[in-house]
Amino acid sequence: MYRTIEWLDDSNKVRLVDQLKLPLETDWIVTDSHERMAKAIKIMEIRGAPAIGAAAGMGMALAAIESKAISKDELITFLEKAAATLNTRPTAVNLTWATARMLGVAKATEGTAEEIVKVLIEEGKEIAEEDVCMCRSLGEHALEVIKPGYTIQTICNAGSLATVYWGTVGAVVRVAHEKYNGDIKVYAAETRPRQQGAKLTVYEFMEDGIDTTLITDGMIGTVFREGRVDCCVVGADRILRTGHVINKIGTYTMAITAKYHNIPFYSVAPISTVDMVTDPEDVVIEERDPDEIRVINGKPVTVPTAKVYNPAFDMTPPELVTAIITDKGVVKSPTEEKMRAMYDK
Ligand code: MRU
Repeated sequence: MYRTIEWLDDSNKVRLVDQLKLPLETDWIVTDSHERMAKAIKIMEIRGAPAIGAAAGMGMALAAIESKAISKDELITFLEKAAATLNTRPTAVNLTWATARMLGVAKATEGTAEEIVKVLIEEGKEIAEEDVCMCRSLGEHALEVIKPGYTIQTICNAGSLATVYWGTVGAVVRVAHEKYNGDIKVYAAETRPRQQGAKLTVYEFMEDGIDTTLITDGMIGTVFREGRVDCCVVGADRILRTGHVINKIGTYTMAITAKYHNIPFYSVAPISTVDMVTDPEDVVIEERDPDEIRVINGKPVTVPTAKVYNPAFDMTPPELVTAIITDKGVVKSPTEEKMRAMYDK
């Protein structure tokens, strides 16, 4: 695979792969505008929690350049507006985490506006580099529970494309594939309504020579009952200090089904996805356009005015989670105390 998003040093622009066109076409968006970056996040040309965190970080660096501010105060005012523009999706914590981090660095840096802009460019690149390292590291930690010969059930896309390079679930699968000489398999759930599993996960694992089988979401119970998978490994858009996992819609149903069949259920994410502040009842679950369900490939599949409920994410409670795996280690049977100990490491 390739880097989903990259800062181009020679032009101070950002290059990202257009995920709306995959897997049929590999096309790149190159931009020097934070507003264009905000659009890419909003319409999901780039998606996946860590990837949109990196996009927001680099978007803030672009905004810093665009501001042409002559004083630090002017720069901060411009950046505050840019952060509001970039925060276009409410559920993945990485987005607000990245914009807040960039603003914090801008405020804490002494110097001229020009000097602070340079610092922000480096910080945007650093967020992306850290993601590459954190994901590889969580993949290594996952070897504690992922054994040779395992078949792993996934949902949505938590692969390379959802991050900067390795993926979260992608790192778990790739590290195991590497260490176990390819003796690892994947069942990928299609993931209605946007089909990130079918369009992105299957594509990127096949590119890497990983044995991958595509199923529809409704087949998960049958696949579990037939003993086809050894564990579920899902990503996360936000993991709370309580051990609640907020991830793509369908994850909660998968976790309940896994519990019934005694199949371990793991959620993997970099520490940037862990939110130690928000309470479960305060998490905002993004609701998306009804036409994501009413229309497939541009063709209506139901009554055009059908009433639709389309939450993009759900919340899995800790009692259904066998372990949470981050770059800081494995937290089995998560509790607030264990999450805090891991976070404070
Ligand atoms: O709506 P999306 O495609 O941005 O949702 C992405 C997911 O739910 C991923 O599974 C999640 O971000 C984990 S990413 C490593």
